[in-house]
Amino acid sequence: MVVIGSDHTGIELKKRIINYLYKEHIEYADVTKDSYNPEDDYPDIALSVCSKVLLARNNLGIAICGTGIGISIACNKLRGIRAAVCTDEYMAEYARRDNDANVLCLGARLKIAEDDDKIETIVESFINNFYDGGRHDRRLDKIRNIEEMNREGR
Ligand code: RB5
Repeated sequence: MVVIGSDHTGIELKKRIINYLYKEHIEYADVTKDSYNPEDDYPDIALSVCSKVLLARNNLGIAICGTGIGISIACNKLRGIRAAVCTDEYMAEYARRDNDANVLCLGARLKIAEDDDKIETIVESFINNFYDGGRHDRRLDKIRNIEEMNREGR
């Protein structure tokens, strides 16, 4: 399942991506409201998306804010989340293949966000590529070690 959510900057982009997911018969869950609230905060959206992503191993997330940066920072605070801001299909492909990223972060205020084809290519690339494993396991284990160090307050 693809879990999707956006802050107030990304409501339209979120709807366009949902149309794409629907058209492609990709199961999704929309965890944020469609009503415009400029007082909403991207860390809350990150928490809504990521807590649902973490419920199943094969879940992926799409988290949207103005730049994609703030929400990616927040998403990456959750243990087990590897969130990547991607601005093209190459980044989306290798976020999955090398980093086993489970959340795609997008910036609704970027020029590319206006282009449906570009956004669909990024989303398609993120969903349809898979972790390569192998040498990347060692690196992801090191990231997990850093997460554990944080938990232990070291
Ligand atoms: C909200 O105005 C904006 O700051 C937020 O969407 C995001 O761009 C933060 O990184």
